[in-house]
Amino acid sequence: MIELHVNGEAHRLDVAPETPLLYVLRDDLKLNGAKFGCGMGQCGACTVLVDGRPVFSCLFPVSSVGARPVRTVESLGTVERPGPLQKAFIDHQAVQCGYCIAGMIMRAQALLETVAHPSEQQIREHMSPNLCRCGTHMRILAAIREVAAQGRLPGAGPQKVSA
Ligand code: FES
Ligand code: FES
Repeated sequence: MIELHVNGEAHRLDVAPETPLLYVLRDDLKLNGAKFGCGMGQCGACTVLVDGRPVFSCLFPVSSVGARPVRTVESLGTVERPGPLQKAFIDHQAVQCGYCIAGMIMRAQALLETVAHPSEQQIREHMSPNLCRCGTHMRILAAIREVAAQGRLPGAGPQKVSA
């Protein structure tokens, strides 16, 4: 039995310890934002935050998470009330097929929670592990730049975990 804290909720799951975190999020918790792209750490479609840091959840064994909080794109907002990055991605029409977007947003979220006004170079370097096969990178960068200009995003803070 594995205990996992995701988006402020605690879960006890009967899964094999080596199961990739991505499979547990999608199959067991029905959080389908993060996507399976390459399964090899080469595209970033599966990016989620573990303790505020972006990880490739396709390669991250669920047993390696431990007590650290996991956050997925579902934690940032809703269709009715999108978070700042979600809204900027919509406003800049950064989404084509959408497959890469949850990973892009979570990687950008990690940067904007830790750096108040990242430079263009910092944004590009930070985002470089995530690929968009539709080629909307310029719109994605524009959306991130807009949010970055507004200052640091609040982090999740100490996570209140409810069972
Ligand atoms: S699916 Fe994880 S990096 Fe591509
Ligand atoms: S919008 Fe299609 S992969 Fe990025």
